[in-house]
Amino acid sequence: MQLKFYHQPVLTTEVVRVLRPEQGRLIVDGTLGGSGHTGLLLASGAMVVGVDRDADALSYAREELRAAGERFTPVQGDFRDLPRLLAELEITRVDGILLDLGVSSHQLDTAQRGFSFQQDGPLDMRMDCGSGAPASDLVNTASREELERIFREYGEEPRARSIVHRLVTDRDKTPFTTTGQLAEAVERAAPRTGPRHPATRVFQALRIAVNDELGALKAVLEAAPALLNPGGRIAVITFHSLEDRIVKHFFKDTCAATLDRPEWPMPRPNPRHFFISVPGTPVAPGPEECAVNPRARSARLRGAERRSS
Ligand SMILES: C[S@@+](CC[C@H](N)C(=O)[O-])C[C@H]1O[C@@H](n2cnc3c(N)ncnc32)[C@H](O)[C@@H]1O
Repeated sequence: MQLKFYHQPVLTTEVVRVLRPEQGRLIVDGTLGGSGHTGLLLASGAMVVGVDRDADALSYAREELRAAGERFTPVQGDFRDLPRLLAELEITRVDGILLDLGVSSHQLDTAQRGFSFQQDGPLDMRMDCGSGAPASDLVNTASREELERIFREYGEEPRARSIVHRLVTDRDKTPFTTTGQLAEAVERAAPRTGPRHPATRVFQALRIAVNDELGALKAVLEAAPALLNPGGRIAVITFHSLEDRIVKHFFKDTCAATLDRPEWPMPRPNPRHFFISVPGTPVAPGPEECAVNPRARSARLRGAERRSS
């Protein structure tokens, strides 16, 4: 498969600065996507294990990165399973971990994948089409309470109740099977009030729920300290406040040398003091990058370095 455009990577200079790829270093890119970041890490001489849930991303990367030879190892899987995926390659520790969260432009732009309300397609939204249930199952079978929780928690959708009422009424007559059908029902329940399509938050929420994106993020962060060599670094690029909050709190908890509580006479050492913060992070794209790549506007890169003990 050869495509002209798959995905424009964000914050490329910053990723290279934080991960310090060089000959002899092994980095795992947990979100291979269009292989833009991995290509840069390989170009700096590092070896890369590239993981993605999406078989399509893997076959694109195999073609694109053919010249890297044995320095690049593609693996299909969920980054929540990194310890197992690396153990299967007989790797116990790495020098860097990159996570560039969310979906690629290619996934969004492929109507068949069902991520976008801008083109009609099957209501699917799975990153790995070979496992789990499509979004249509969730929309057609989840209880009112569950759908409302998903739209509020993952989409921060203030009109969740009216939208769910509309969806539940409609699905009893005709089950939802397409993105167009869902976008149209949401727009009827919550008419447009600004430039954003009213279905934006609902689609984000369903995508997060279908792929358990926040669960996967929490699991990989917990696994990271044991996977990184001392001095190894983790870089995480987030695109919305829900995932950014998780990364921010995780780094805050694991970069603190001591813990303190009002009832303690003095601060105590933090048993989870795994990391030190990386200077110059968090960092967001500058105006030049946002001008050429509007998707970069909401990106934020956080980094942390594994302590030696
Ligand atoms: C924003 S794109 C990454 C783009 C990539 N950095 C590049 O330079 O082209 C996110 C990719 O991560 C994958 N992904 C998201 N969550 C994942 C997970 N839990 N495990 C593995 N891959 C995941 C998606 O399938 C998608 O291909």
